[in-house]
Amino acid sequence: MSVLESLRTIRDEALEQFKNGQTAEELEQLRVSLLGKSGQLTGILRTMGKLAPEERAAVGAEANRVKQALEAALSERREALQKAAQAARFERERIDVTGPGVRTRPMGRLHPMTQTYREIRDALVGMGFSLFGGPEIELDENNFTLLNLPPDHPARDMQDTFYVNDSVVLRTHTSPCEIRALKSVKPPFRLVMPGRVFRVDEVDASHSPVFMQMEGFIMDKGLTLGDLKGTLDAFVHAVFGEDVKTRLRPSYFPFTEPSAEMDMSCTICGGKGCRVCKGTGWIEILGCGVTNPHELENCGFDPKEWTALAFGIGVDRVASLKFGISDIRLEYENDARFLRQF
Ligand code: DAH
Repeated sequence: MSVLESLRTIRDEALEQFKNGQTAEELEQLRVSLLGKSGQLTGILRTMGKLAPEERAAVGAEANRVKQALEAALSERREALQKAAQAARFERERIDVTGPGVRTRPMGRLHPMTQTYREIRDALVGMGFSLFGGPEIELDENNFTLLNLPPDHPARDMQDTFYVNDSVVLRTHTSPCEIRALKSVKPPFRLVMPGRVFRVDEVDASHSPVFMQMEGFIMDKGLTLGDLKGTLDAFVHAVFGEDVKTRLRPSYFPFTEPSAEMDMSCTICGGKGCRVCKGTGWIEILGCGVTNPHELENCGFDPKEWTALAFGIGVDRVASLKFGISDIRLEYENDARFLRQF
């Protein structure tokens, strides 16, 4: 083979190899093996001295053309590989900014006690009740004295509380809202008054020093205990369905006469008797009664003209029954792992 022929063979083979080169490294190896110090083409150029002078010019010119052709082909291939790599990377890293987010945010939900509170409230609002409220830090006078619990009355012991000073307490129940209503709302009215209340109680499965109540207060002329029972039945059935039974049990509260406690049939055992209802089939959920005439008089109303009915619901109790929670602490500890299930 003449030198010119081998030059062309080298070129044709090299051009073919470049086409198959898949990476920058492969191309670099090819370049070195052809154009490097001990490359094929370099080798041929080195032998030029041995050629006849007339041949030398032709071989020299061809060798230069081959070299240029190879260099051009190499850089073209390099560029093509680079572009392909970039295109592949764009494809790989493509994001559709209009698509839905990948990271989901945890959804919050309402605390079971809030859900319960809202159901009771909505049932009562549906019967014409309005929301009303009072402060958590209350005058002793509103919390006790005007509710017919004068200083030194033994019934005060039932609701020991936290004193801020001699005349200011953390309210022990939502009943002082009744006094605030009597002092500021013109009867007739139907009010629902929810909120946090406080007592000096040791924490156990059924006691918490902070808990939630909901006071209902109705004032009109000619109300009877039947109106009270009907109202209470309606809210219990709205929250628990028509199948639960209720009963009123005589009780004592200084601010009602007569006084009663309302029980509902135990939702855990369906009334057969279990650990939660202590085998009785009934669970107490509220205190209620016909407002004591002294309370009305204390606030300037004539009890012969006006009648009031009142009830105080333990919201945590109702939530326990609704959701089958057997330890009240779970309702106040705010452990998201527990609350998530409701
Ligand atoms: N305040 C009472 C308590 O915390 C519950 C209660 C009883 C409220 C009778 C009332 C009522 O309005 O009439 O134990």
